[in-house]
Amino acid sequence: MEKQNNCQVDLQDHDIQDSSRRSFLKQSGLITAVALTPATALKAADEHIDEKLAGALEKMPLRMEVNGKPYKLSVEPRSTLLDILREQLDLTGTKKGCDHGQCGACTIHVDGTRVNSCLTLGVMVNGKKVTTIEGLAKGDDLHPMQEAFLKHDGFQCGYCTPGQIMSAVACIKEGHANSEGEIREYMSGNICRCGAYPNIVNAILEVKNGGQAV
Ligand code: FES
Ligand code: FES
Repeated sequence: MEKQNNCQVDLQDHDIQDSSRRSFLKQSGLITAVALTPATALKAADEHIDEKLAGALEKMPLRMEVNGKPYKLSVEPRSTLLDILREQLDLTGTKKGCDHGQCGACTIHVDGTRVNSCLTLGVMVNGKKVTTIEGLAKGDDLHPMQEAFLKHDGFQCGYCTPGQIMSAVACIKEGHANSEGEIREYMSGNICRCGAYPNIVNAILEVKNGGQAV
C-alpha cells in the first residue's frame, strides 16, 4: 500500500514536471517563432496596431478664445495646448523648451492664470480664454512688461523671454512681486539659460512700482 502511495506520489511529481516542461517548451517555442518571424510580417502587424491606435484617437472638437479671437478646432485628445497653439494656430511666440513642465518657456494665461501649456491638454481648455505673448501688446503699443524687459535688457538669446514675460505679468497680478526675494521665488519656474535673472527682476520691480526705474 505504502509502495502504491509512493508510486502515486512519483506519478504526481512526474505529472508536475511533465506539465512544467510542456509549458516551458510552449513558451520557448513562442519566443523562437517571434524571433523567426520575417521582418515584413512584424511590420504589417505594427501597422495594424498603428491603425487601431489611430482609430482610438478620434479627433475631438475644441472651442476656445485665443488673444480675443474665437476658434473652433478639431484636435487629438492627446494634443497639448502648446502644440495646438504652435502647429495649428501658427502662434509660435510660445516656446517649447523642455516639454516636461520644468523650464517655463511655454507659459501662457488661461482665463488669466499662468499655466505651462506643455502640460495642458488642448481639450482641457474647451470654452476658456487663452492669452499668449502675441496677445499682450495692444496693436503697436507694447505691454508695460515688454517695455520694461527691453529697457532693462531682461534677455539675451530671447528663447525664454515670452514665458518670462507671461509669468511676470501673472506674478504681479497674483500679488507676488513685493520684493526681489518674492519675485525670485515666484518666477523660479521660469529658467533662463543666459542668466538674465537680475535684469528680469529689475524689469518686474519697475512695472510693479508703476513704471519707476529701479
Ligand atoms: Fe513647458 Fe518647459 S516647455 S515647461
Ligand atoms: Fe536666453 Fe533666457 S534669454 S534663455
